[in-house]
Amino acid sequence: MKRLAYYTISLLMLGACEKNQQKPENNSTNGTQSTTTQTEKSQVNYLEKGDEITTATQAALLQTVSKAIAEKEAHGAVEYCNLKALTIVDSLSKLHNCQIRRVSDKYRNPQDKAQNETEKKALATFIEKHQKQEKLEPFILQEDKNVYYFKPIMVGMETCLKCHGDKSKDIAPKTLATIEKLYPNDLAKGYKLKDFRGMWVVKF
Ligand code: HEC
Repeated sequence: MKRLAYYTISLLMLGACEKNQQKPENNSTNGTQSTTTQTEKSQVNYLEKGDEITTATQAALLQTVSKAIAEKEAHGAVEYCNLKALTIVDSLSKLHNCQIRRVSDKYRNPQDKAQNETEKKALATFIEKHQKQEKLEPFILQEDKNVYYFKPIMVGMETCLKCHGDKSKDIAPKTLATIEKLYPNDLAKGYKLKDFRGMWVVKF
C-alpha cells in the first residue's frame, strides 16, 4: 500500500508543474546517494519545496505583523496575522502551482480548521507528538492526486501572546475587544510560549 503511494508520488512528479526544479542528487541527508531511489528523491523534493514556500511566507507574515504592531499597537494589528494580507502567498501559489494555508485545532478563523481526512490526520500526528514532548518535523502525505506538505507552527515568541495568549494577562483589553468583535467564536486564545499552535499546509 505504502509502496503504491510512493509510486504514485513519483508518477505525479513526472507530470508536476516544476519541470526544471529537480534538485541535484548530492544533497541527500542520509548520505547514501547511490542507493537513493527515484521515489525518495520525489519526497525530498516536496519537503524542500514546502520548506522554501512556508519559510518565505512565515518571514513575510512575521515582518508584516511586527511592523503593524510597531505602528498601530496590537489592537490595530489584529487583521495582519492573515495570509490574505500577503502578496507573497499569491505569487508563491502561482509559481509552484500550490495552495498555502494554515490549519489549527484551536482556530480563530473557521476557515483554518482541518478540511479533510488528510489534514485531520496530520494535525492529530503533530498534537500527539507534542503531547509526548517529541520533536515536531515537517512531513509529506499523499491523498488522491495531491501531495501535502505539513510543517508545525509553534508559539515561538512573546509577540504571539499579545493576540493568542491568556486573555486576562497577555491580551490588552482593546485588542481583546477587536478580536472578539471580528471572531466571535475564536478558539485561539490561552496559548503559552512553545505551545503547538497549528501547521502550515502546502497542497501541491
Ligand atoms: C496582532 C494580533 C496577532 C498577533 C500578534 C499574532 N496573531 Fe496569529 N492570528 C491573529 C488573527 C486575527 C488571526 C485570524 C486570521 C484570519 O482571519 O485568517 C490569527 C491566526 C493565526 C493562525 C491561523 C490559525 C487560526 O487560528 O485561524 C496561526 C497559526 C497564528 N495566528 C499563529 C500566530 C503566531 C505563531 C504568532 C506569533 C509569531 C501570531 N499568530 C501572532 C492575530 C494575531
